Amino acid sequence: MTTLLKDSYGRVIRDLRVSLTDRCNFRCFYCLPHGEPPIAPKEQMLSYEEIEYVAEIFVSLGIEKIRLTGGEPMMRRDIETIIRKLSALKPGLHDLALTTNGYFLPGRAEGLKEAGLDRITISIDSLKPEVFKSMTGVDVLDRVLEGIEAAQRAGLTPIKINAVIVRGHNEDEVVDFAAFAREHDVSMRFIEFMPLDSGHDWSRADVFSGREMFERINERFPLAPLKVRRGSETSARYGFADGAPGEIGIIAPVTQAFCGACSRIRLTADGQIRTCLFSTVEHSLRDVVRGGATRTEIIEYIQSVVLKKEPRHYINDPEFMQPARTMSFIGG
Ligand code: GTP
Ligand code: 5AD
Ligand code: SF4
Repeated sequence: MTTLLKDSYGRVIRDLRVSLTDRCNFRCFYCLPHGEPPIAPKEQMLSYEEIEYVAEIFVSLGIEKIRLTGGEPMMRRDIETIIRKLSALKPGLHDLALTTNGYFLPGRAEGLKEAGLDRITISIDSLKPEVFKSMTGVDVLDRVLEGIEAAQRAGLTPIKINAVIVRGHNEDEVVDFAAFAREHDVSMRFIEFMPLDSGHDWSRADVFSGREMFERINERFPLAPLKVRRGSETSARYGFADGAPGEIGIIAPVTQAFCGACSRIRLTADGQIRTCLFSTVEHSLRDVVRGGATRTEIIEYIQSVVLKKEPRHYINDPEFMQPARTMSFIGG
């Protein structure tokens, strides 16, 4: 029988998010506006063999979902190799997904599918070229749109599209994005801006709330809630009341936190376990593995770390401190 990973608040951990690299070719202002801070030297990064080794242990402990993130995960050389290795962990592993900015998908989506990737989430913050450029630092909207098409053709479905909505930048586009979801039959997810930007420019006034997103979309395209939120899901999900294809997801970690049902832990590219997006401490699984620990010792270590998982984030508390590592290291 599987020994499940359970934290000290009774939450069962079933999702592991693995960052493959801290590097990124975009400069999204809500994440990594001023370029890469010093990134870990290569020898501190987990190798594909090490990721495969620990992932197998995590799956034996009840992890069902692995999501590969970055930085931009496709900046890491030959990610098809790690996808192939991880997909060999099925059927214990139910779901292998990737979050990407989409830039490298044209020409590569097919190969990811063949390697065993189940599905993909692509970030796109604007459908207007000039706003896309001002939000991401790169003028490549068309290429990302091509990437979405390539992912669809490759069958990396259901495809989810992430847009971080920031007041004064793209809140006027939520209805256009909803129309995009209907036209392309994708799940369009609207995310509140969180204080995880390396520029430390986040301010509460910039948060366009989940409620505001809902109201704008619902006014133009009436929404029908989809069944109750599945356990640990980040988004509140809606279909279109008129039966059109596509789906809307609203992710509101700031104004409607979902920590009570959280089932996620994260592994950074340099092998540190983070028990929360907002953790201020990390746990070096890399040192434990490289220090020659036995499989049993590694399992005990992981279990002890999970018991330290934070009950919730403290974004709304007056004493909130932004974690030292920002989104480009954690990967969403
Ligand atoms: P599925 O695997 O499809 O369920 O994906 P998901 O719902 O986990 O969503 P995804 O991984 O695409 O995450 C979407 C966004 O939600 C991320 O980019 C983050 O901005 C935010 N997010 C994801 N997980 C957490 C979390 O544990 N806490 C908070 N506060 N935000 C999160
Ligand atoms: N707030 C909310 N979401 C963020 N992401 C990155 N930075 C932030 C932030 N400050 C999310 C985006 C992107 C994913 C990789 O991380 O949704 O799609
Ligand atoms: Fe889980 Fe932390 Fe995210 Fe809350 S903020 S949902 S506890 S990872």
